[in-house]
Formats: sequence, C-alpha cells, structure tokens
Amino acid sequence: MKILAIETSCDETSVAVVENGVKILGMTTYSQALEHAKTGGVVPEVASREHSVKIIPCIEHVMSMLGYTSSDIDLLAVTSGPGLIGSLLVGVETAKALAFAWNKPLMGVNHIYGHIASIWLERSEKDVSFPLVVLTASGGHNDLYLMESHSSLKKLGTTLDDAAGEAFDKVATLLNLPYPGGPQVSHLAEQGNSKAYHFPRARLQDPYSFSFSGIKTAVKYLIRDIIAVSGQLSQQERADIAASFQEAVCDMLAEKMMQAARDYEVKSLVLAGGVSANTLLRSKIEAASQKIGVPYFAPVSLQYCTDNAAMIGCAAYFQYCYNQSACNLLPSDLISFPKASDSLV
Ligand code: KG4
Ligand code: ZN
Repeated sequence: MKILAIETSCDETSVAVVENGVKILGMTTYSQALEHAKTGGVVPEVASREHSVKIIPCIEHVMSMLGYTSSDIDLLAVTSGPGLIGSLLVGVETAKALAFAWNKPLMGVNHIYGHIASIWLERSEKDVSFPLVVLTASGGHNDLYLMESHSSLKKLGTTLDDAAGEAFDKVATLLNLPYPGGPQVSHLAEQGNSKAYHFPRARLQDPYSFSFSGIKTAVKYLIRDIIAVSGQLSQQERADIAASFQEAVCDMLAEKMMQAARDYEVKSLVLAGGVSANTLLRSKIEAASQKIGVPYFAPVSLQYCTDNAAMIGCAAYFQYCYNQSACNLLPSDLISFPKASDSLV
C-alpha cells in the first residue's frame, strides 16, 4: 500500500510517499527555520503563508521524483492536529482537495502518534515488541505513554509547563543562540563542562509528570548573576551553562522513562520527537536501558526525529491496518475524517 502523506503542523512543509508503513519511497521537506530565525521563533502567520507557498511544489517534487501519477497512490494522509491552526489548515485543505481531485480516501493523523510511529520507519514492524513505554519529547509536547499494541495507547504523564524542546529553545535564546535552539545548545554543550553548574531536577509527586520551567528560570538567574559580576558571559561560561542544562534535562527525561519501564515491566523503550535527535539523551537512555535489560529504540535516521511526512504515512498505515483505534485514543483531531475505506466523493 502506497500512502502519500502531508505534514504541516508547525514550520516544516513535508510530503512523503511511504510503502506498507515502513519503507520511505520519497520525501521532500522544506524547513522554514531560516525564516523564523529572523524573529527568534515561529510566527504562526508567517508559517502558514510559507506552507501555502511550498505545499504544492513539495507534492509535485515527490511525485515527479518517483515518476508517479495519482493512480500509484492508494491513500492520502495528513496531520490533523495538534499544531498551529493556520499551518494545519494549509495541509488539511490541500489534502482534502487532492483527495477530491484524485478520488482517493483521506485519513487524518494525530501528530504525536506520527512521532511515535516514526520509530518503525526503516525497521520491520516486528523489531519492536509490545508492551512498550514511549517518551515523545518535542517543542510542543512532552508525554510519556504506555503502548500495549498499535491500538492501545495510554498516556501516563505529561509536562506541567514547558516541553523539553521548548526549554532548549528558550535557553538558546538566553544564550543568544539562533532558532531552532535545541541543536544549537547541544552543539555548544560539546565544548562545555556538564558539572560546572548544578541545575535543579524537578521532583514531582506524580512519577510520570515533567516540569522544565524551574530549570529554565535557574539558567536565567545564573546568567543575570554572572553578568552582574563580570559584565558579560565568557564563551566558556556559555558552553558550561549549555552542557549543565542539557545534562539536567536529559537526566529528568531518562529517569521518568526508566521509572515507567520498571513499573510496567515493558519489553521495549521508545524515544521519539524532535528532542530524540539529542545525542546525550540517546546515550543516557541507551545506557539505562542496558542496565535494566530492555531494548531501546529511537528513529533510525535523525531526519525522522523532527517533523516529517514519512512518520505521518507510517502512522496512517498502522491506523488503516489496526482500525484507527490508536488515533482515537488521542482526542486532538481538529477535523473529522472519513475512514480509510470510504471514498470522499
Ligand atoms: O518534533 P519537532 O520537530 O516539532 C514539534 O513537534 O514540536 O521538535 C522540534 C523541537 C525543537 O524544540 C528543537 O529545539 C528540538 O526539537 N530539538 C532538539 C534537538 N533537535 C531538535 N533538542 C535538543 N537537542 C537536539 N539535538
Ligand atoms: Zn513534532
């Protein structure tokens, strides 16, 4: 089954054709990062305008790269939420128009379920055993789930304030690093000492909840105090702050994930979402997973960690095969879609 998938929930315009859920036949992603770097973050109106300019060229590029016509596509899939409303609408309306013109079924996909599905890309479906604990850490969400099958997904916890990626982005701004901040902080941290400063690890009553606003505030006050004494931050101080901050965030994420893995005696651990591109986080979770003897999985290629259409095509395939129930457990779809088996016209 070949699925043409569209993702426009934030600042990436991405289109992919995915075969049988896990094989990526082609993908084109246009990142708006340079545009948003000018303002230090995503401006929703700018994002939706950029999507509306790039979406058709991205679709045309993927189709012509593969030499495909509409008859090669079995199903259309589109991210239907959560995300920036104006950005989502561009993808959703384009997908609806295409479904109508091509006479193909269309399926709405939850963005977070898409991130979860990304770990099956470039793998065999059987590689990852259930039950599993999955941590989705991005700029807009930070959740822990127990997944017993493709049709059983239970949210164990979420962030009480910022998402981990959001905290990375805000600390990047405090360190005068450009948007998007996560990779920049991580890069700067390579030259720093992660033990130079001790940032608080949030201790919450709920073992599966997260909180990152305290650490962000601690970074802010530390920078203020250093500047009050010496007038500015040295390059080494910036790198040390980045490394110490990254260490603390990764510790908090890994700790909660391991707690859930032990409590639910799972067979696999899964890390997904933009922050899963972070090398330190991957290595901490890998080390911890070895300790408890549970295999760990993250997207095979870094391009499938951040927003991309291939993960939406993968998720749509699982929804199609497993009767859409995984999607139904995430009640954030903005628009209701027909079932895959229905035709739109
Ligand atoms: O999944 P994603 O592309 O978009 C959302 O759904 O939010 O995630 C983007 C987030 C941004 O906050 C970005 O700074 C963060 O993921 N990110 C990283 C890294 N790469 C991306 N955070 C830490 N380290 C990275 N290497
Ligand atoms: Zn995302």
